Amino acid sequence: MRDQFLIEGLGNRQTLRGSIPVRGSKNGVLPVMAASLLFKHPLRCLNVPDIEDINRMSELLFGLGAPVEKIREREYRIHGNKASLSKLETSIAKRFRASIILTGPLLARFGKVTFPFPGGCVIGKRPIDLFLEGFKKMGASVTERNEQFTLTVPKKLVGADIFFKIQSVTATETFLLAAVLAKGVTTLRNVALEPEVTSLAEFLSKSGVKIKGIGTSTLSIEGGGLLSSLEGYTTIPDRIETGSFLILGALTSNDLTITSCNPESVRALIETLKECGVLIEERARSIHIRGWKGNTEKSPKDISIRTHEYPGFPTDLQAPFVVFLTQMWGEGVVFETIFEGRLGYTEDLKQMGASITLWDAQRALVKGKTVLKGMEVNGPDIRAGLAFIIAAIVAKGRSVINNVYYVDRGYERLENRLRDIGVSITRINGETGEQY
Ligand code: EPZ
Repeated sequence: MRDQFLIEGLGNRQTLRGSIPVRGSKNGVLPVMAASLLFKHPLRCLNVPDIEDINRMSELLFGLGAPVEKIREREYRIHGNKASLSKLETSIAKRFRASIILTGPLLARFGKVTFPFPGGCVIGKRPIDLFLEGFKKMGASVTERNEQFTLTVPKKLVGADIFFKIQSVTATETFLLAAVLAKGVTTLRNVALEPEVTSLAEFLSKSGVKIKGIGTSTLSIEGGGLLSSLEGYTTIPDRIETGSFLILGALTSNDLTITSCNPESVRALIETLKECGVLIEERARSIHIRGWKGNTEKSPKDISIRTHEYPGFPTDLQAPFVVFLTQMWGEGVVFETIFEGRLGYTEDLKQMGASITLWDAQRALVKGKTVLKGMEVNGPDIRAGLAFIIAAIVAKGRSVINNVYYVDRGYERLENRLRDIGVSITRINGETGEQY
């Protein structure tokens, strides 16, 4: 639990090289694990990353009576069909936001679900109004007692026309799943278009659900019976991991290949990096970085990004991109539009030597190029945790990254993959000092 990373910074040297593989997408497979509750038989999931959030989802499913069996490396069989309970264990559900996705299939299958306000990274208020309003439209009544929500439906959820006033990834996924067993047709409008949502919709469609509008902003789902899939689900590559490696490569390498990824899923970042002068070659399933050219003190760049729903610039890559901007000659303006509390980590980057001015809670001006100095930092959430790792690799001197649990929530044994491309990184037990 108390693991730390010890990183010896490269201090501006472009020495990383080789290839680094991308694992399956955390946010791609978590909703599919929840979908296992809608299947007649155990569901096979492939290319599942070995990360803490998968362990938490497995524990929640186990608590519902649905064991998750690890068949071999990255392959699981989920016995969602065996679930018999519909109350989420509070202590686990409060640890990750994706736990709320289970409410959709549980309510659809059992007509009742009890859950706490979901936890997850502290990056903003992250309310659940879209969920409660949507379920009410589908015929559920909502009660809240002792910080627990209970939703009940008299018989079955009924299809409804739901307009999301904000595009929400997990709300779209939750209602896609709820609609599968509902009576009649459910129409979801202004849905999220993130690849994880599309992948879930495509998988449901292949498993027998009649869905219209996949890949568009309106989805229409015809309710029916339990689902079946012989081949199971193969997790799509993690686009946030892909993008973070791309940023790391741009900063530290003239020859790095990111493999097992989908370049199209990080289009917004690739185009932005190219605009900054990063040399990038795309192939079908890999991306090759050949260095960063033309950005000097005499020819600075000015760049501005605003985070946006897919296919815009992902909020989950905002923190790693700010690290990139600290190394760019010129000025970068960053506008975080999705979460209102997602620039807090910049304080620590400033301590490392970055020149960052917060105009307000959601807008920052980053002036570069600055020399970052290694120091001890606390990873505040999954994505900023990785941003600190990138900053520590770029920095001069040694850094200690605390709260590695956050990084382990989303990235599989990152240190092994980073070491393979030349990073000096060690995992140590923060209590005993033991290296492993
Ligand atoms: C998903 O979170 C991801 N999590 C996040 O990744 C990601 O940052 C985010 O989408 C945006 O891409 C998972 O998929 C498990 P939203 P989610 O609902 O679904 C507001 C990670 O590290 N909103 O799309 O929780 C919300 O406050 C995480 O893996 C409401 O107002 O995000 C935000 O401003 C961090 N009411 C906006 O919608 C609601 O009921 C979009 O958030 C729900 C959301």
